Amino acid sequence: MTKILLLGCGNMGGALLKAWAANTDHEFTVADPARPDLPEGVSQVGSVEDLGEQLFDYLIVALKPQLIDNVLPDYLPRLKPSGVISSIAAGYAAAKLAEHAPGRSVIRIMPNLPAVIGKGVSGLYAHGPVPETASSEIERLALCSSDIVWVDSEDMLDRLTAVAGSGPGYVFEILRAYVEAAEKLGFSKQDSLNLVLGTVRGTLELALDSDLSLEDLRKNVTSKGGTTAAGLHALNGEEEFSALIGRTLQAAYERAVELR
Ligand SMILES: NC(=O)c1ccc[n+]([C@@H]2O[C@H](COP(=O)([O-])OP(=O)(O)OC[C@H]3O[C@@H](n4cnc5c(N)ncnc54)[C@H](OP(=O)(O)O)[C@@H]3O)[C@@H](O)[C@H]2O)c1
Repeated sequence: MTKILLLGCGNMGGALLKAWAANTDHEFTVADPARPDLPEGVSQVGSVEDLGEQLFDYLIVALKPQLIDNVLPDYLPRLKPSGVISSIAAGYAAAKLAEHAPGRSVIRIMPNLPAVIGKGVSGLYAHGPVPETASSEIERLALCSSDIVWVDSEDMLDRLTAVAGSGPGYVFEILRAYVEAAEKLGFSKQDSLNLVLGTVRGTLELALDSDLSLEDLRKNVTSKGGTTAAGLHALNGEEEFSALIGRTLQAAYERAVELR
């Protein structure tokens, strides 16, 4: 039986754990003094002393990054000699995790918010030599709540964070502005929300189901001289929108680099 220790079990760690417990037969133990609401069969300890002599195959860090340096060293002795460290912490480099545990295999998982409803996209990065069994296992866990993309450098994981990790924030803001604009056209707040979220959901599902490129799908709904063409000209006539999205991702990536 694979034994997994989850260090920190808050919003993201707790959501991932639910998916892992429901979709694998591993033995999970949570180390978190907050006594979170746990899936059936998952054990919980408030401190490393409560673990006794137990040893684990995987230690998965789901703490806030600023706590890792203080908390992780206490738990490392509870990892088997062949054990692997994984982490979902944003802005805490694999190289720093490896410094805490020289010689250990380290795999970072970068989930994004929709993972809490099993619809995330996660980046995976294996730091240094990692056994095939460990990368397969971490991939299997990530797939419980998300699609996955492997990257081959920490820099690419920072780029992935700028695209997908921070992505839900951009999408919420775009939706908010879209709803606000609908209200300005005369709709109530509730009607605006229904119109915008319904339009976005339907359009997204169409795009996911279609073999056409996004550009072709857009062309197909844009008749020359029509309303969509007028709206699109205002949105991106001089490519201002494309440039804005480019600057958005670049700013998030640069911040990820600063946080390394
Ligand atoms: N939320 C997201 O969308 C998201 C996305 C990608 C990555 N992440 C990463 O996921 C990690 C966790 O984020 P989160 O949103 O789940 O944070 P969170 O809700 O604050 O969860 C962290 C948990 O760790 C617990 N904790 C604090 N001190 C501890 C200790 N000494 N030993 C064991 N557990 C301790 C906290 O308990 P208390 O609450 O009592 O302090 C809390 O339950 C972060 O590194 C973040 O970068 C989050």
